[in-house]
Amino acid sequence: MCFLHAYLKYAILRHPYSETKEQHSETNMTDLNGRQEAVRNAIASLKDKPGALLPILHSVQDTLGYIPADSIPDIARALNLSRAEVHGVISFYHYFRDTPPGKHTLHVCRAESCQAMGSKQLESHIKNRLGIDYHETTADGKFSLEPVYCLGLCARSPSLQIDDTVYGRVTEERFDAIFNELEASL
Ligand code: FES
Repeated sequence: MCFLHAYLKYAILRHPYSETKEQHSETNMTDLNGRQEAVRNAIASLKDKPGALLPILHSVQDTLGYIPADSIPDIARALNLSRAEVHGVISFYHYFRDTPPGKHTLHVCRAESCQAMGSKQLESHIKNRLGIDYHETTADGKFSLEPVYCLGLCARSPSLQIDDTVYGRVTEERFDAIFNELEASL
């Protein structure tokens, strides 16, 4: 992955409009009215900003935890874009979800420094442990798994983020300890 691509992935994850996963679940508006209100609010407050599409998508996902398919026509109309253009941006950035996330989201770093320190092996271990691949959610709705391209903790590779907490020097054993504790808390 080139530096620019890695930077874009990092920048989009760290976008200033992002909030924490805990805030997502606190405002878990799953009903239609709630979804429509979140989308309307995001459009109204951000549509006049330069490059408004990404801030609006971040705001919707921060509020709802994902970007519902039925929000795409409203966003496209507000920004004078086609539905295909909005959908194209959502699908280009893996950070954006089109389905509700699990209660907790695990982000595994796949960038160069972590790969050099064994993140691929850790990644396989985590996938086996959860029984899911990237961009999937466990059947019980408890965990989602996402890749990330640098968490800014390269000196402590391999790194992992669970919700809004970042962990460095994560071995398989350390992951199991962290995950066991998380599972026990549910
Ligand atoms: S490469 Fe993984 S934290 Fe930077």
